[in-house]
Amino acid sequence: MTDRLKIILDVDTGADDALAILLAARSPEVELLGCTSVAGNVTVDQTTLNTLAVLEIAGRKEVPVARGATHPLVRRLSTATFFHGPKGLGSAEVPLPTGQPLAQPAPAFLVEMANKYQSELILVATGPLTNVALALLIDPDFGRKLKKLVIMGGAVRAPGNITPAAEANFYNDPEAAQAVLQSGAKITLVGLDVTDRTILYWSEIAHLDEKPAELDPASRLALDILRFYTLTHGENGGAHLHDPLALGVAIWPDLVQTERMQVEVETAGKLTRGLSLGFNRKARDKFVDMGDYDDAVAVEFDYVANADVCLQVDAPRFIKVFRERLGL
Ligand code: RIB
Ligand code: CA
Repeated sequence: MTDRLKIILDVDTGADDALAILLAARSPEVELLGCTSVAGNVTVDQTTLNTLAVLEIAGRKEVPVARGATHPLVRRLSTATFFHGPKGLGSAEVPLPTGQPLAQPAPAFLVEMANKYQSELILVATGPLTNVALALLIDPDFGRKLKKLVIMGGAVRAPGNITPAAEANFYNDPEAAQAVLQSGAKITLVGLDVTDRTILYWSEIAHLDEKPAELDPASRLALDILRFYTLTHGENGGAHLHDPLALGVAIWPDLVQTERMQVEVETAGKLTRGLSLGFNRKARDKFVDMGDYDDAVAVEFDYVANADVCLQVDAPRFIKVFRERLGL
């Protein structure tokens, strides 16, 4: 095995975050250096507990977990228990974890690990970007020290999923998302443009429900989560593998086709809070060329590409490897 990928997962462990943790735990390409929990799908107490529990079920109790932000930078927390279930893992009942989170808060842990693993560390963020923004407040160069920052968030050419304009993670903490996108990190944006096309249907795995005893604990947890996720909220019994795909893109970048863009996140809009506006240089230059007669667009601004936005995905290939790794 060539050098494994040094990865930290920043998670708001709900259903699909749990599936991403299980995928990381079961992928030999990944050296999982830690998980940082953040408030999002459920409270940070619950996301921390869920993260510890999922790691233990996966037999990875040694992976450290650092507890993060209790709420977005400036907004009120809006959880999604309606979608992820009261405790965030659908209807799955998991034993209380025996482990505890680190005493060190998540933002400080992230900064310490970036300094320790300079340019080797890949951060995969699958929740609101509050912890990452707080790490930037501690060390403004945090983003630039990372090998790569893979973000599950945003919707550049696709509709939002929490409002017509915004994807849930960016909606929950738009100020953090905007700060992180302007941080100079090497960002791959895994938004709804591709995760909405990466759907696992219950009909593909329902047969496993007939002999649950034949599944190992991690596969059984994944099946329990997917049963809830597909049958309760899925479209036609399908679950969008948002967070697992973000990890997949970190491991296998050729799963997706990307376009280099400048991405800005709306933080002032009433209807457009959390909207991720992506544009390429051509779009920007078109505005400037028209500047002669219209003050509105005569303002010169630098085009600063800041993200590789995922626009196409080989969904069947990812779903195949996802099922293989999770024993589904
Ligand atoms: O919009 C989907 C994202 O929001 C996923 O990361 C899901 O877990 C929620 O955090
Ligand atoms: Ca998430």
